[in-house]
Amino acid sequence: MAWEAVADDDQLDEGDMMVVQMGGQPICVVRLYEDEAVAVHNTCTHQQQPLNEGYLQEDDSLICPAHNSRFDLHTGIPTGVPAVDPIPTYACKIEDGAIWVDFEQQTNDAAIPHKPYYT
Ligand code: FES
Repeated sequence: MAWEAVADDDQLDEGDMMVVQMGGQPICVVRLYEDEAVAVHNTCTHQQQPLNEGYLQEDDSLICPAHNSRFDLHTGIPTGVPAVDPIPTYACKIEDGAIWVDFEQQTNDAAIPHKPYYT
């Protein structure tokens, strides 16, 4: 396990997102609620656009800004086309005044999306 503090607790308000680099991959950290944050790969599995520029929904899903694919942020599963492959999700917690992500603990079996075109 390799938990890393990626943000101070007060750095992200509910509904805020930020991108951090972990293991050479762009990871999107989303503060869903006061007591819950999630971490997902920031790359849409449709055409590799950055998900942190997308739109958070009330059902804890995120809509890609490029072509409106929708991903469940807890499971990584696409719930709206055109994406058909899931995005990787990672262990994430709020503790001791910080938001923590363990990049080595992927919580689903999604493949790492190939290198984004935007970086
Ligand atoms: S790149 Fe995300 S829906 Fe097309």
